[in-house]
Amino acid sequence: KQPLNIVKMRNMKRDGKPISMLTAYDYPSAKLAEEADIDMILVGDSLGNVVLGYNSTIPVTLDDMVYHTRSVARGAENTFIVADMPFMTYHGGIDESLKGVRRLMQEGHAHAVKLEGGAEIADTVKRIVQSGVPVLGHIGLTPQSVNQIGGYRIQGKDAEDAKRLMNDAKALEAAGAFAVVLELVTEEAAAEITKALSIPTIGIGAGRYCDGQVLVYHDILKYASPYRDKRFVKTYADIGSVIRDGIAQYVREVKDRSFPAEEHVFKSENKQASEPAL
Ligand code: KIV
Ligand code: NA
Repeated sequence: KQPLNIVKMRNMKRDGKPISMLTAYDYPSAKLAEEADIDMILVGDSLGNVVLGYNSTIPVTLDDMVYHTRSVARGAENTFIVADMPFMTYHGGIDESLKGVRRLMQEGHAHAVKLEGGAEIADTVKRIVQSGVPVLGHIGLTPQSVNQIGGYRIQGKDAEDAKRLMNDAKALEAAGAFAVVLELVTEEAAAEITKALSIPTIGIGAGRYCDGQVLVYHDILKYASPYRDKRFVKTYADIGSVIRDGIAQYVREVKDRSFPAEEHVFKSENKQASEPAL
């Protein structure tokens, strides 16, 4: 299978073919997403919430991102992988930003990076793109700024706010971003931005008219996600209860000594005992 690339993505938008994106954070999640034919994997800093158990993405470090991106890359060798630049790693000057990008690409083996923000980070985006690295933009609700925004609020609700988002989207396109994530944006504002840009929009809680959709792995699979009842999430499987039931059964069988059974043991007389166990 040939991985997607940014030229093909632009053609998909032109041809009206939706782009599927899902987060993944480690080898098994990436492997299963690739086997399910996902177009693009995002190693999101949402790993702070769904994997590391923090209550925001702010504590996530560059080391965390590199570590997780590298394991994703090993699980999905034929899928286009985008890694998030974490909180405060791209506002301290271009040298520092490029250092983080280098680590995500060279140590993490990502194919592209994602940065939160609009016109105010367009120069940074431009410099990263000029260094040969594809950049995915991210506007609307930007979780790294949650304390400034004052909560996880829907963006683009009035004309002025929709116009601000449109300006940000255009600034990112002009800076060379290959696509833009629209998070928690009204369907109307997202549709207008999608129409105005020649690069794809990837929506999360941004309605039906984006060029692609992205969701969080643990959310769509009910995998111990800390979130309940997010309107924009659809549950496609309940692996949380499958895992919990499987573990509970294991615990019961250890307690009642039905595990291990005869077929799981090595006898000294028997030839398996002298062969490798795996
Ligand atoms: O970290 C993440 O999962 C993201 C998506 C929600 C777009 O940034
Ligand atoms: Na993110």
